[in-house]
Amino acid sequence: MSGLLAGKRLLVTGVITDASIAFSVAKLAQENGAQVVLTGYGRLSLVERIAKRLPEPAPVIEVDVTNTEHLAGLADRVREHVDGLDGIVHSIGFAPQSCLGGGFLDAPWEDVATALHVSTFSYKSLAMAALPLMSPGGAVVGLTFDATKAWPVYDWMGVAKAGLESASRYLALHLGKQGIRSNLVAAGPLRTIAAKSIPGFDEFEGAWTERAPLGWSLTDQEPAARACLALLSDWFPATTGEIVHVDGGYHAIGS
Ligand SMILES: NC(=O)c1ccc[n+]([C@@H]2O[C@H](COP(=O)([O-])OP(=O)(O)OC[C@H]3O[C@@H](n4cnc5c(N)ncnc54)[C@H](O)[C@@H]3O)[C@@H](O)[C@H]2O)c1
Repeated sequence: MSGLLAGKRLLVTGVITDASIAFSVAKLAQENGAQVVLTGYGRLSLVERIAKRLPEPAPVIEVDVTNTEHLAGLADRVREHVDGLDGIVHSIGFAPQSCLGGGFLDAPWEDVATALHVSTFSYKSLAMAALPLMSPGGAVVGLTFDATKAWPVYDWMGVAKAGLESASRYLALHLGKQGIRSNLVAAGPLRTIAAKSIPGFDEFEGAWTERAPLGWSLTDQEPAARACLALLSDWFPATTGEIVHVDGGYHAIGS
């Protein structure tokens, strides 16, 4: 077997369409020698149909990251397909509509709590659920949207992402002794289901395509996926708690 991830066994969450960032990660990972197990949420038959579009068929395990039974059973379910894991990809985000699109001042706590549970806390709970399968050299990789700034329309999802960025650093701190890394990819805007659910998302689109120094494609998930693969690989052995921007350079420029 050859490729950047030759022989690696990965758990990839977050596939819902073939535009999902996770779909590109799974596809590229297989093309680069990895064995992939997917998790799906909600519409399992849809995820299974999308999984058939991968170069190799990939098993799909049902995981709602807010469901403690799903998390408790995850390691055993994964073991039915692979004997261990070298990497976990967290590509999950959700916030109720009240939390997005300018609703920051009015969103109720129950909705904010849902956003934080699914988008922030789940990074830790997913990693812990799969930890029994991990060994030194393993990696956890998640997806963020640069949370160092307050963006128009992103609202509580921005707060959730700031928490995710912090959670990744704490995971790096707590799992470092076991030789396990935790890193995030900060992607620019991409047209996925999650993005389309944000009212006013087109404001990001215009800004990025006009101003990113390298230019930016809203429909090309591969650059973000490539960065995920790099962080899952053995080529970042001493990097943890890091955030790699894959945004055409947008974060580096003034407006
Ligand atoms: N699309 C963008 O512009 C962009 C930019 C930066 C970061 N991100 C992040 O990338 C990640 C993937 O999103 P995407 O853009 O590929 O969109 P997507 O809609 O394709 O993926 C989001 C996934 O989250 C899953 N999910 C939602 N609630 C869940 C739950 N309770 N349990 C388990 N899974 C659940 C959905 O099933 C879906 O597969 C998210 O963390 C998102 O915030 C997206």
